[in-house]
Amino acid sequence: MKAHGRIGIFDSGLGGLSVMAAIHQLMPNESLLYYGDSKNAPYGIKTKEAVYDRSKEICDLFIAEGCKAIVIACNTATSAAVTKLREVMPVPIIGMEPAIRPALRMTKGKVLVLATAMTLKEDKFNLLVQDMSAESRILRWPAPDLVTLVENDFDNENLVTEAVSKCFASLKDTEKPDAVVLGCTHFVFLKREIETYFNHEAVVIDGNFGTAQQLKRQLEIKNLCVNDEEVGTLEIRNSFGEAFEKKSKDMLSHLLKEARHHGE
Ligand code: SIN
Repeated sequence: MKAHGRIGIFDSGLGGLSVMAAIHQLMPNESLLYYGDSKNAPYGIKTKEAVYDRSKEICDLFIAEGCKAIVIACNTATSAAVTKLREVMPVPIIGMEPAIRPALRMTKGKVLVLATAMTLKEDKFNLLVQDMSAESRILRWPAPDLVTLVENDFDNENLVTEAVSKCFASLKDTEKPDAVVLGCTHFVFLKREIETYFNHEAVVIDGNFGTAQQLKRQLEIKNLCVNDEEVGTLEIRNSFGEAFEKKSKDMLSHLLKEARHHGE
């Protein structure tokens, strides 16, 4: 595998753009190819086999494009497919991990994990909780409707506020979290509304930077980094075609502008 190949990044739709932004910030010299599978979103309500099959098709496309590494920027696809993909793909595969470790370090109280039912049910997640001996502090909170909301209406403030309130309506007072882990990359686009919902009393964290760092480590170990003179290119494709590609580019520009503004 050659160091000048691109890095393929995919998600069930638009959520993984937030991971793409984190990777570009950390490694601006690397060229990235993003594939959003919005036509088949959400993955969380499909069978594990269907998510694996679709993930494999997208990885095959990346290999045909000469990609040197692949990032599964989707927690659901990571849970369903990462182990098998690592066995059959000829390049390093990096997956998502809900940011439970940092959340447990940051607070002594309850950690609510917001994700799809599939992510919360799969072994990968449950082994992580077990490994941290954190069962009594973890609250699993499936939120399938929020994925569809981000795909279609993430910029409609009223709809977003309403959907976030509805999502947590059955949360008891005794379950109020000290930290909320965004265990689905789509939810990064709702971060502000979730912080507001919890009156800024809960820290809201995602695993994007951790994934970007993990990718960097893998590229370094395998001698796959481009040199510092390269200027990274960014390409976005979407199974829904041009309209979604245009929307994705706007979302990515917005994320990168925000990050520059905050000096990240
Ligand atoms: C989904 O497509 O259902 C959610 C994507 C994710 O888990 O990141």
